[in-house]
Amino acid sequence: MNGSENGPDAAGSGSVEPPVTAGLVDLHSHLVPAVDDGARTIDDAIEGIGRMVERGVRSIVTTPHLSATATLRPSRLAAALEPVDRAFEALSDRVAERFPDIELGRGHEMLLDVPDPDLSDSRLWLGEVPVVLVEWPGLQFPPGTPRVLDEMVRGGIRPVVAHPERYRVHNQRLTTPGEWREAGAWLQMNYGSLVGRYGPQARAHALTLLERGWVDCFASDFHGRAHLRLYIRECRELFMKMDHGEAWDLLTAVNPDRIRRGEEPLAVPPVSIPIGVVERIRTLFGSIR
Ligand SMILES: [Fe+2]
Repeated sequence: MNGSENGPDAAGSGSVEPPVTAGLVDLHSHLVPAVDDGARTIDDAIEGIGRMVERGVRSIVTTPHLSATATLRPSRLAAALEPVDRAFEALSDRVAERFPDIELGRGHEMLLDVPDPDLSDSRLWLGEVPVVLVEWPGLQFPPGTPRVLDEMVRGGIRPVVAHPERYRVHNQRLTTPGEWREAGAWLQMNYGSLVGRYGPQARAHALTLLERGWVDCFASDFHGRAHLRLYIRECRELFMKMDHGEAWDLLTAVNPDRIRRGEEPLAVPPVSIPIGVVERIRTLFGSIR
């Protein structure tokens, strides 16, 4: 999703801070230039990666949007992936020059517009094993999503549900993400959700999911534009203030690293953050919207 906010994370904002935590692994972003609604140019992507590096990210698997429909016919998939392959190669060359210590990989954010995609092409995976980032269209999910995920797992594909907190159709008790986990999916939360980037409902869902220990990893879902923020520093501040350093390391470094290797993420202890503390951090870092 795009945004239009400015703030201390935006480009040209002045001072460069030291990394907050070294070794962050980010499994969801849109940095392949000109293939989706993310970065428009290599320069934009490089600028964004520079900011990620400043915040301690050492490994990025960037994930352009792709509709599951495109996987149903080999010719269509080939046509969809060819420009991504080319643009990713050019980006990789520049990243190797500018940030030689940064690991850059590529998967896709798979839009499940059909329930039975063919996810066998390794270019769709987050790493070398079949782990795929998935979402449903329009921030709504149709009935039967746990079964769709269960069938993926049975077919040898491990789904990672992108930003579960952002769906607008959760029931009041927020039970569906638990069913996704029972089906074998792993859950990825956006940093921005926790500090209100996507509004109060997504923030409330984020706080509840963290409190239940249902979130397996954080990611930026960064769209590679100079005016967009990453929200890594804000979230780290929240976790440190509440003495949740262990959970922070699991969510930002240990678990995303395990997930891309297909290894079961470690259990994250329940994270409790009062809404008043979130509000104070918002004030400290400037307005979110
Ligand atoms: Fe995304």
